[in-house]
Amino acid sequence: MTETVSAPTEATVLLVDDNPQNLKVLYETLKDKGYRLLIANDGEKALELAHRNHPEVILLDIMMPEMDGWQVCEQLKADPVTADSAVVFLSALDDVDAKVKGFALGGADYISKPFQAQEVIARVRTHARVIKLERQLQKRNRQLESDQSRILNAISEGIYGLDARGNIIFANPAAALITGYHADDLVGQNFFKLHFVDAPNPADSGEESLPVWMTCHQGVAEHERGVTMHRADGSTFAAEYRATPKLEGDNGKLRGAVVVFRDITAELENERALDEARELVQEQRDQLAHASRLSTMGEMAAGVAHEVNQPLTAITNYARVARRMMAAETLDKELLAETLGKIEAQSHRASEVIRRIRRFMKKPAAGKEVLSIPALLEDTRQFAEVDMRNNEGGIEITVADDVPEVLADPVQVQQVALNLIRNALEATRSAGAADPVQVSATMMGENCVRIEVTDHGIGLPEDAEEKLFLPFYTTKEDGMGIGLPMCRSLVQAQGGDIGFERQPEGGARFFFTLPVAAGSGASCVPASQDD
Ligand SMILES: Nc1ncnc2c1ncn2[C@@H]1O[C@H](COP(=O)(O)OP(=O)(O)OP(=O)(O)O)[C@@H](O)[C@H]1O
Ligand SMILES: [Mg+2]
Repeated sequence: MTETVSAPTEATVLLVDDNPQNLKVLYETLKDKGYRLLIANDGEKALELAHRNHPEVILLDIMMPEMDGWQVCEQLKADPVTADSAVVFLSALDDVDAKVKGFALGGADYISKPFQAQEVIARVRTHARVIKLERQLQKRNRQLESDQSRILNAISEGIYGLDARGNIIFANPAAALITGYHADDLVGQNFFKLHFVDAPNPADSGEESLPVWMTCHQGVAEHERGVTMHRADGSTFAAEYRATPKLEGDNGKLRGAVVVFRDITAELENERALDEARELVQEQRDQLAHASRLSTMGEMAAGVAHEVNQPLTAITNYARVARRMMAAETLDKELLAETLGKIEAQSHRASEVIRRIRRFMKKPAAGKEVLSIPALLEDTRQFAEVDMRNNEGGIEITVADDVPEVLADPVQVQQVALNLIRNALEATRSAGAADPVQVSATMMGENCVRIEVTDHGIGLPEDAEEKLFLPFYTTKEDGMGIGLPMCRSLVQAQGGDIGFERQPEGGARFFFTLPVAAGSGASCVPASQDD
């Protein structure tokens, strides 16, 4: 006899008794109480119904022919589908042993016959509610667990849960993949022994210094990069890890650590390659700058020859004068000394020119130094004026009183200033003008010095904004178009900025900035350009 009596509602209750009269009374007692009632009159049916309908509560008679209530209960508890139902025994047996046996078999409660209707109603209500809540809780737990394991499985970082001694109590699939172990083999192993103790340098493997040791033992969170970890096959890899202490209870007792780690071998390799590429670029930039300095010197060769020739001619003349003095009857020693002094001064002048050229052509550039702006500009002016083609109008320098020393490579800064001054002189000459080129230095903010080179020459071409700093852009017959691009690359290497302005009264103004030596160390490039 199987019967579904009332509409499916809050909970399902299965009534099991071999006596139809008893079943009727139970049914009458529980109907209209909001349950879905199922009825079975023997053990076999009870098991089948329970398996199929998953009732919250089973009211189970003990004394039944063929299969008694104990056996039914035993089988219900053995079947995972029915194991969580609350079995409430119903029996005339009212001795303690029977109750104990009932509980021992997994029964939840016991009602003695003849029963009170109110008691049955109250107990069924309580058990139905408890089982329902328990099932909801379990469902929620299962969901959380599967969410959690889905997340842990999907994460590409390795995750270990460690106890306070460093034994692995949890490992996600990525941890197994990274370390080359089977996930099952990891649990129970010791994290330190597994991944570190055989480290090739035994001096480094003092336990306190091991990664994650302090997290496990003192609750100190750790984050390290480039740690060497051992794989299952004995090979090693560079790892980055974060270890967080695992605290439990209100008093925050230390229970071990959670370690999140990943293999950064490829990342380190990329970084190294990037560093190498950067170095190469730097090297090539320096070489290009050097080549460009040599080319400038080539262009200035005639001027240099002239510049050296002047003192040499003077020396020859003074030497002749001196010889003549010595041939005279009375030797004017004072005059001779004065003449020799002039020879010395002229030879000094010649060697100054050569010193400047040698310094300018030196390779590689000297590196950053603390520089005095007035000295540097003066040196550059003398250098530029050597270029005979261009020294008609001359060069005027003004340096504001508050301009401090800057931190930059002297040769490279001189190269920039010289390029700009030569362009300005060339523009002036092309315009047939004789106005001097003005070079000025002022403070810009607290951390930068701004150097301007202003001319009254032919002015900038129309498409200057787009083209001026492009390599090989030139409007000159014998120009190469590498002066300005080179200036930009050199100024940027100093942490500075370069640009130009058109002059309302004609001519051009170029400027560049340099960081002051005692400044904040911030670059002088406007934020929008600093990429
Ligand atoms: N002060 C200036 N006034 C007018 N035009 C200028 C000035 N400075 C540069 N230019 C323009 O910018 C172009 C590029 O200058 P850049 O110094 O890069 O090359 P270049 O002077 O032509 O050749 P080089 O490589 O020998 O210096 C010049 O050809 C010129 O047209
Ligand atoms: Mg130029």
